[in-house]
Amino acid sequence: MIKYHTIRIKYLKNSALLFTLLIFFTIQNIQVHAQDGRELFTVCAACHTIGGGKLIGPDLKGVNERHDEAWLIKFIQNSQEMIQSGDETAVKLFAEYKNIPMPPNNLTDDQVRTLLLYIKDYDPNAQPDVTTAQSAEGETEDLAEPEYLKKASERNYGTTFIISLFFLIIALVDLFVTQIIKARFVHVIIILTVIMIMGEIIAVEAQGLGRQHYYEPEQPIAFSHKVHAGQNQIDCLYCHTTAKESIHAGIPSTQLCMNCHNVVRSGKLTGTAEIAKIYQSLETQTPIEWIKVHNVPDHVYFNHAQHVAAGKLECQECHGPVETMDRIIQVNDLGMGWCIECHRTKEVQFSNNFYKEYTKLNGDLDSGFIRRVTVDMIGGDDCQKCHY
Ligand code: HEC
Ligand code: HEC
Ligand code: HEC
Ligand code: HEC
Ligand code: HEC
Ligand code: HEC
Repeated sequence: MIKYHTIRIKYLKNSALLFTLLIFFTIQNIQVHAQDGRELFTVCAACHTIGGGKLIGPDLKGVNERHDEAWLIKFIQNSQEMIQSGDETAVKLFAEYKNIPMPPNNLTDDQVRTLLLYIKDYDPNAQPDVTTAQSAEGETEDLAEPEYLKKASERNYGTTFIISLFFLIIALVDLFVTQIIKARFVHVIIILTVIMIMGEIIAVEAQGLGRQHYYEPEQPIAFSHKVHAGQNQIDCLYCHTTAKESIHAGIPSTQLCMNCHNVVRSGKLTGTAEIAKIYQSLETQTPIEWIKVHNVPDHVYFNHAQHVAAGKLECQECHGPVETMDRIIQVNDLGMGWCIECHRTKEVQFSNNFYKEYTKLNGDLDSGFIRRVTVDMIGGDDCQKCHY
């Protein structure tokens, strides 16, 4: 698998630029709308076809005739909101589809109109460049080595350590036994340098003890975020449902996988082998035992809602480009220094009503004495905020 991959990457290196230019001009010149619509529809395609029959949701062929535009825009943006407000058509549809919720889509009215136009004009025979465009995009993405992998390889101190040790021994042997080099200061310089390098390495490694920087365990099912969150653009919160309300982001249950995998029965990378494990978990009623990648020690308090809902941070600021990862890897060391560094530089969403009570800071902001409020200014550096 890896071998095949590297060969393919090498082979494609030269044509990568060409592909990119090609895609660029296609997007620029031809059918801006159709391209946008097609791209937007990749999210929907997990659950809908246009003229290909029912999947998890209804076949969307002719949907423009079934409902008026205003209804469709509201429903596509947030169907659950409509259902909860009691819209009759929406409630009926929801019941008909066994109460499977359609995830909310963070789309503007215009984006939905583009989508609806794409659905209306969809012609299954006039889609020759879909696959080429998509695979080419995928491949150019593969070419550049991701930043987080580069850092992982830089961190290999093993060789440096062994080379230093080698010099140390040579210097000592020459000093006491062979005595080829007469000038003593040469030995002293070599020995001092080596001690400094080794000390540095030992210090860095000791700090990392107990941390799992670049931890990348194999999971019981080869679940790929690249396939789900990247190619199919499924929203992170669709699976990690509690990230906005609670301490934990949460790992989805097998039931949630079945929202889609009762229909999607095979994948491009692994065929039916991996998806079959989902059914097995259901049949035997044994939950899938995912291995937890990110951990902070017990004496540390970390809350997702505080950061995602109040702080309005993107998941990627802490977890890296998850949507490009086939297997999850921990890209930050999650050390105390990492938390504090961000708290000293990151601005708090101070327009949040919750912060009305910070009268002094609000006064300083209004008078122009300070221009922004960073997390440490509201106590983000206090030991007891992070430690039990
Ligand atoms: C996880 C699966 C899923 C995804 C992804 C999804 N839908 Fe749906 N959709 C459904 C289900 C299920 C229904 C049926 C209504 C319900 O259960 O709420 C539905 C209903 C609809 C309807 C009403 C259809 C009718 O015949 O009345 C429209 C329109 C629609 N979806 C458009 C979209 C669009 C556009 C997207 C992409 C932006 C999308 N859906 C993404 C599952 C999904
Ligand atoms: C909203 C829909 C949706 C949900 C929810 C979902 N998947 Fe998928 N999954 C897909 C789609 C679409 C594919 C791509 C199929 C393809 O390659 O054409 C896929 C592919 C896969 C594959 C095969 C990948 C490959 O390319 O070989 C595995 C394994 C998988 N999913 C596991 C899971 C697990 C485990 C869960 C639950 C944690 C889950 N999925 C939840 C839509 C979903
Ligand atoms: C289709 C469901 C699904 C979607 C969508 C999804 N995830 Fe996940 N996520 C999972 C599953 C299942 C696991 C556990 C297996 C694993 O680690 O790969 C997981 C694990 C993780 C982990 C590692 C948790 C740990 O053990 O420390 C992080 C971080 C994460 N997801 C972030 C994201 C982000 C960010 C997004 C959006 C870009 C996202 N996920 C979208 C299902 C999903
Ligand atoms: C400020 C940094 C930060 C942000 C932003 C963040 N996370 Fe996390 N995440 C962490 C840390 C730290 C842990 C380890 C927590 C622990 O061990 O309790 C973690 C753990 C997780 C886990 C493992 C299971 C769990 O709930 O503890 C998942 C899944 C996850 N994050 C997903 C997400 C998703 C999805 C988002 C965006 C909606 C997100 N994270 C945003 C720092 C962050
Ligand atoms: C990428 C930036 C970032 C990282 C990394 C980060 N935080 Fe934060 N943190 C924030 C922001 C922004 C807020 C303010 C949220 C708000 O508006 O209330 C915050 C607030 C907090 C608060 C509440 C502070 C208060 O005064 O109310 C705690 C506790 C906290 N973070 C703990 C942690 C811990 C523990 C870690 C490391 C494991 C961490 N954070 C890593 C950005 C970050
Ligand atoms: C923004 C959150 C945050 C604040 C504020 C914070 N810590 Fe920590 N602290 C952590 C995290 C996360 C760890 C565990 C990760 C690690 O190994 O560094 C930790 C670890 C520690 C450890 C264990 C040593 C170690 O390296 O594992 C001690 C002791 C400690 N902190 C003391 C303090 C003291 C004293 C303060 C106040 C001056 C403080 N912390 C403020 C997040 C914080």
